[in-house]
Amino acid sequence: MTKEQTWSQRFESALHPAIALFNASIGFDIELIEYDLTGSQAHAKMLAHTGIISSEEGEQLVTGLEEIRQEYRQGTFQPGVDAEDVHFAVEKRLTEIVGDVGKKLHTARSRNDQVGTDTRLYLRDQIQQIKGELREFQGVLLDIAEKNVETLIPGYTHLQRAQPLSLAHHLLAYFQMAQRDWERLGDVSRRVNISPLGCGALAGTTFPIDRHYTAKLLDFDDIYANSLDGVSDRDFAIEFLCAASLIMVHLSRLAEEVILWSSEEFRFVTLKDSCATGSSIMPQKKNPDVPELVRGKTGRVFGHLQAMLVIMKGLPLAYNKDLQEDKEGLFDSVNTVKASLEAMTILLREGLEFRTQRLAEAVTEDFSNATDVADYLAARGVPFREAYNLVGKVVKTSIAAGKLLKDLELSEWQQLHPAFAEDIYEAISPRQVVAARNSHGGTGFVQVSKALIAARVQMDQ
Ligand code: ARG
Repeated sequence: MTKEQTWSQRFESALHPAIALFNASIGFDIELIEYDLTGSQAHAKMLAHTGIISSEEGEQLVTGLEEIRQEYRQGTFQPGVDAEDVHFAVEKRLTEIVGDVGKKLHTARSRNDQVGTDTRLYLRDQIQQIKGELREFQGVLLDIAEKNVETLIPGYTHLQRAQPLSLAHHLLAYFQMAQRDWERLGDVSRRVNISPLGCGALAGTTFPIDRHYTAKLLDFDDIYANSLDGVSDRDFAIEFLCAASLIMVHLSRLAEEVILWSSEEFRFVTLKDSCATGSSIMPQKKNPDVPELVRGKTGRVFGHLQAMLVIMKGLPLAYNKDLQEDKEGLFDSVNTVKASLEAMTILLREGLEFRTQRLAEAVTEDFSNATDVADYLAARGVPFREAYNLVGKVVKTSIAAGKLLKDLELSEWQQLHPAFAEDIYEAISPRQVVAARNSHGGTGFVQVSKALIAARVQMDQ
C-alpha cells in the first residue's frame, strides 16, 4: 500500500517492495476477516450510540461492512499484499463502497486493539469447535469401551507386562485425558473472552466511547481493565497453545500405542484399509500413517507454544510489531489440533479392530498374575514383603523350567507355602486377576462399569 493510502503524510516515499512484503500480514491474517468485520460493526454501532458519529453514518458503516462480508464469501473480495493487513484491506474497501464516511470507522480505535479483538473472537470460536471435536473423540472411546468391559489386554509399566486390564479401563484413561482437555479449554475461554476493544493504540482514547457497549455486542464477558495490558497481552494465546499442546500429548500417546499394537510384535489391533497405507516397494506392508502423523504433528504445536513464549518474553509495553508473529502459529495449532482429533476419531470409529482372540491369549502367556499370588498369601496373613520374596523365587524357578504360574502343581505351591490351596488357580486366572482389582478407579469389572456410567454423565456436562 502506498503512503497516501495508509500512513499519515509524514512519509516521503513508498516502502521498498521487499520490505512491504516482509511487513505484510494479509497473507495469513485474512483468516480473521469475518471477525474483523464483526468487530468493526460493533465499533461502528458504538460510535453511533455514543454520538461520536451520526446514526445514519453508523448504519452506512455497518451495511458496508456487511457487503464486504458477502463479497468475501462469494470470493470477489481478495485483497493483495498492497493492503498490508486485513484491517487496512477492509477499511479501504469500505471507503470504496460507502464513500468518505468509511474513513470515520477508525475513529477512537487503533489496529492494536482491533487485532487483539479479532484474534480473541477467532480463538473463542475455534475453542468451541475443538471442544465439540473432543466430545466426538470421547464418544467413540466410550462406544468401544462399553463393548469391551470384559475384553482383557495386557497392562504395562516400563513397557514390560505388568498386570492385565479391562480394555475398557485402558480406553477410559484416554477418555479422562480428553475430559481434562475439554475442561481446560473452557477455563482458557474465560480469559480469551475479555475485550481489549477501546484500549486504543496503548493509552485509551480522547473520545467518549463505551467499551462495555462493544463488549456486550460482541458477547465478551468483560473488558480489559488496563489499556496497555489490553493491547499487548497474549497470555490467552499462550494458554490456548498450552491446552493445545496437552491435547496433542494425549493424542500422540494413544497414537503411539496404536502403532505398537498394530505391529507384528504385539498384534493387538488390525488396521482397516480405510485408515492404513501401503509401501511403494514392500508389497506386504500396511502402515499406520494416521497415528504416525498425529505423533509427528505434535511437535509443531509444541514449537508454536515455544515460539509464542519467546516472542513475549522481552517485549516492552505496549504493542510491538513482534506481536504480528502471534498469528501463524496460533492458526496452525488450531488447524493441527482439529485435523488430528478428527483423524484419530475416524481411526477409532472405523479404522481399527481389536483382535480379541489374540488379546485373550496374550494375557495368559506371562507372569502378570505374580502380584496376585503375593496378594493371595498376604490376604492369608503372610506379610506382603515376605510373600513378594517367595513369589519372586517361584517366578525364577518357573522361568528356568519353562513354565508359567498356572502350570505349577498344587504340591509345588504348598511346598512354597502351606497357605496355598486349590483356589490359587482361580485367583491367578487373568479374568479373576482383573476382576479382583475392585478398588475405586481400578480395573475390576464392577469399577469399570461404574466408570462408564460416570463418563456418560461427564459427557452431558
Ligand atoms: N497486522 C498487525 C498485527 O497483526 C496489526 C496491528 C498493527 N499495529 C501497528 N501498530 N503497526 O499485529
